[in-house]
Amino acid sequence: MKRIAILTSGGDAPGMNAAARAVVRKGINEGLEVFGIDYGFFGLVTGKIRKLELGSVGDLLHRGGTFLYSARYPEFATEEGQLEGIEQLKKHKIEGLVVIGGDGSYHGAEALTKRGFKAIGVPGTIDNDICGTDFTIGFDTALNTVLDALDRIRDTATSHERTFIIEVMGRDAGDIALWSGLAGGAEAIIVPEQDFNMDDVVNRLEQGRKRGKKHSIIVVAEGVMSGNEFADRLAEYGDYHARVTVLGHVQRGGSPTAFDRVLASRLGARAVELLLENRGGLAVGIRENKIVENDITEVLKETHVLDRSMLNLASILSI
Ligand code: F6P
Repeated sequence: MKRIAILTSGGDAPGMNAAARAVVRKGINEGLEVFGIDYGFFGLVTGKIRKLELGSVGDLLHRGGTFLYSARYPEFATEEGQLEGIEQLKKHKIEGLVVIGGDGSYHGAEALTKRGFKAIGVPGTIDNDICGTDFTIGFDTALNTVLDALDRIRDTATSHERTFIIEVMGRDAGDIALWSGLAGGAEAIIVPEQDFNMDDVVNRLEQGRKRGKKHSIIVVAEGVMSGNEFADRLAEYGDYHARVTVLGHVQRGGSPTAFDRVLASRLGARAVELLLENRGGLAVGIRENKIVENDITEVLKETHVLDRSMLNLASILSI
């Protein structure tokens, strides 16, 4: 293999730049020519392909977002889109592709591999909902952003003896809510993976009040319902007029943490090694601090499982 390319796709995540930097520099170090594709699969199909040099990824390691831009492009699910994408790659004599993104991006990488083009998936999403890896690039940074907000809100919540609801990202996955809730001592953590009962939530708040707690924080993953809707439902219980903070896309930006930069560097470099071994149809990941690779189709078949023991622990500790 002489020429490889890289793209980022779907929702961006802090550390995507660090992963792209690793692909470019590891690739060049191994004697490859590396190309960047702007705007994810949309850019692939429309030929937005440019050569990258060592300097193209300078000053990027600490930056959030993705210098290759990103896009959601459901049209890549069609045969027409995939064939056009492969045509573009062939035109540039590119033989391998690294795809950094989440579930949708992995489907694109899988489709290319099924059509005989070698692609490797690198998990980049703040949601931490990709299988075959303990952590996705961007999750740790997003988690720390949420935690910082939660700590700040706790200060003002205590001063005014208020209940706060913090709506965090996670359409289908509750990891951001779960980890930030545990790290920030939230009184209740509401996630898509587990049904909740408002009576139980109110009982917990009551218990806290009785023992003299000065604040209550409820973290709600957006996939369950909005923070405002949750507040309305809570208000039906009388004495609970909660303030709501919606963290939104703040969670997607910012300088990646050391953890995310190291993870991104290791995963990006491994993706290049796999292409050099002439292998495709794989997704890289980290398991027990070891870099691993798994068949991308198998990874896509699995569903990310929320660690319910952490949810139980949070409810014991934040009583
Ligand atoms: O996939 C990451 C994610 O941040 C989800 O948690 C969120 O629901 C979604 O992306 C929102 O993305 P966008 O506003 O870019 O469509």
